[in-house]
Amino acid sequence: MARRNPRVLVFDSGVGGLSVLAEIARRLPGVELAFTGDNRHFPYGTKPAATLLPQIEQSLGKAMAACDPDLVVIACNTASTFVLPHLRATLSIPVVGVVPAIKPAAALSATGVIGLLATPATVDRPYTLELIARFAPGCTVIRNGSAELVTLAEAALRGIDPPRERLAAILAPFFDGPDGARLDVIVLACTHFPLLRDALAAAAPRPVTFLDSGEAIARRVEALLAPAALPAAGGHRAYFTAPSDDLAGLSPALERLGLGAPIVL
Ligand code: DGL
Repeated sequence: MARRNPRVLVFDSGVGGLSVLAEIARRLPGVELAFTGDNRHFPYGTKPAATLLPQIEQSLGKAMAACDPDLVVIACNTASTFVLPHLRATLSIPVVGVVPAIKPAAALSATGVIGLLATPATVDRPYTLELIARFAPGCTVIRNGSAELVTLAEAALRGIDPPRERLAAILAPFFDGPDGARLDVIVLACTHFPLLRDALAAAAPRPVTFLDSGEAIARRVEALLAPAALPAAGGHRAYFTAPSDDLAGLSPALERLGLGAPIVL
């Protein structure tokens, strides 16, 4: 019997994971995609890791039971920066985690001044500080945590444009300090933020490179699943962990990605 197309579960607190899912879909059309937004526990970026761990385990368990994936992508920097060792020890399938793109940013920066834009939790995680110490030792890394930008990205996927002055205010700490004039790369270290890439670029006081991990994650999934020469997959689905009135507003965005109507787990 022919084997079905490989199935990948893309998990996040909310719609940020869709920025990663879009990269996987673009690179690997033969992969069947099951998105899960853990809206029951959203947002992750303002909560302690100890609170989130059982919540993530519960929601991921439900999502895995619903879709029986061959591989899981934790499409959330806030979660990946503490939960990966635990998940890799307990799950029997490969777990790919999205973490801040510090290493490529250090390689790309001509000035050695990098911005790290993430959730308040991610900018202070020991894992993040270790990434900086290991992969950007000679760089100045300006860390900037914003929970507001997550909310603005959720709204944007529901058709509400982010106010330019709010984006400019969120970006200001990168440019206002003594090293701001030399900053040339900003790492989008929350998967919600690439959804606002164009709006952020328009609100920045001058051109800089915005870098995220989406494409690298798609390459990693490709290496692990080797899904070459498969027929294009259908049957993509979008799951959410709580009923909510605001899920209906996501339908156009989900449809654009071929995900169908939201399904509540
Ligand atoms: N998308 C998530 C990340 O990559 C976090 C959003 C949230 O605060 O829940 O960090």
